Amino acid sequence: MNRRTSGQPAVRSALGALVLTLGGCAWDTPMTTLIARSDFGREILHVYSIIAWATAGIALVVFGVLAWVLARFRATPGAPLPAQTRGHTLLEIAWTIAPALVLLVISVPTLHVIFRTQAAPPAQALEVTVLGRQWWWEFRYPTLNIATANELHLPAGRPAALRLEGPDVIHSFWVPQLGGKRDVVPGRSNQLTFTPQVPGEYWGQCAEFCGVSHANMRMRVIVDAPDAFERWAAAQRVTPAPPTGLAAQGKAIFASGACVACHTIRGVSAGVLGPDLTTFGSRRTLAAGMFPNTPERVAEWVKNPGGLKPGVKMPALGLTDDQARAVAAYLASLK
Ligand code: CUA
Repeated sequence: MNRRTSGQPAVRSALGALVLTLGGCAWDTPMTTLIARSDFGREILHVYSIIAWATAGIALVVFGVLAWVLARFRATPGAPLPAQTRGHTLLEIAWTIAPALVLLVISVPTLHVIFRTQAAPPAQALEVTVLGRQWWWEFRYPTLNIATANELHLPAGRPAALRLEGPDVIHSFWVPQLGGKRDVVPGRSNQLTFTPQVPGEYWGQCAEFCGVSHANMRMRVIVDAPDAFERWAAAQRVTPAPPTGLAAQGKAIFASGACVACHTIRGVSAGVLGPDLTTFGSRRTLAAGMFPNTPERVAEWVKNPGGLKPGVKMPALGLTDDQARAVAAYLASLK
């Protein structure tokens, strides 16, 4: 095989690999780590930038020297064997000290951020207990006496002190734009404090493999302006009005069925195994961020949850299509 026919496929595969790799790059996806929207996120991005630029500089020098060596000392036919070196104290010292210096440069800002972000939360912080469960997130606000699931509302500009607890297996709380990823470990209480700075909706995801629906353990953090947050919190505390029509039928099915064993709806039931549904109708998504919260999806869900989410703990309750539609209408009315 001559050089021409063996070289072209290699170049083509290299280009193909490059295109595939670059195709995975994006700046402003919902799970980006490059657009920080909290103090913690900015701190991490700062350290990340230092490391990325330092690494880019090192790569430039290393590959530059490599290219120069390849060109300068290329083997030529008939050339004599170059001088052979065995051991070089100065070189050995240099390439030991250089990486140590690089690590030192990286460690100073990293340790600084670690200590700062592990500090005790300030007194005015909003306390939230985060429970990672297979496969959804529970958010309790002990000082506001409300609980929600999969959608964490926080006021912009006020520190949020999250206490992370896991009733079943290890999960990991991660909302990339708001900063640190932190494990949720059974039997431990981990702390994560950050101040969301910009109102908006931020996507998050469990970041520790926790079973068959790990990938479906998503969440949203909705950062509200302070007055909007107060309105949201007040609305969460209101006991839902008695429903009418189809929703009233749905309520009767809910209240007399197995639903009450697992779910809380204030004034109706007090189950604690599944998400609190008191204001379910105000949520944007269903099944830990898998689907938009529409009555059609909810009807499908209550009929056969396992068909929509693998491994889900909620059983199919044997509802008819009409019963499922009524329950969905009732749940939609809860806001
Ligand atoms: Cu929870 Cu992965």
